[in-house]
Amino acid sequence: MVKLGLFASLAVIAAALGFSTLQSQADGGACTHKEFKTEIGAKACTGKDASQKAAKDAMKAFTKAANIKSCNQCHTKLAPAYDLKADAFEQFQKAGGKMLDKPVTKK
Ligand code: HEC
Repeated sequence: MVKLGLFASLAVIAAALGFSTLQSQADGGACTHKEFKTEIGAKACTGKDASQKAAKDAMKAFTKAANIKSCNQCHTKLAPAYDLKADAFEQFQKAGGKMLDKPVTKK
């Protein structure tokens, strides 16, 4: 009985690990844009640990700090395309976001 219990809990742990790996792969995909004009975009999407999840987290923090209620204020579409409205960069700057001097391209 003890052995069975141990096996059962190992199975649960293994299942949880497997699930979280899948989950992080789904979240950890690359960014969809090719060129980044903002500091947070370039940092999250072109660095060594670049991922769309990092961009999402950075955007969430930025949006919260700027007291903006909705991602759709700048994005016409959310995941996975994150298409931008025509004035997204203007809004981004007005909200205190930093632009790069030169855009960075993703490899
Ligand atoms: C004030 C405008 C603004 C708001 C609000 C905003 N974004 Fe963004 N977002 C941008 C801009 C501009 C870019 C392009 C960044 C660049 O070029 O460096 C971007 C890029 C992104 C990217 C990278 C896309 C890719 O894969 O290439 C993600 C992910 C993202 N935003 C998610 C979000 C989420 C989630 C929210 C809401 C919590 C949000 N954004 C709110 C302006 C905004």
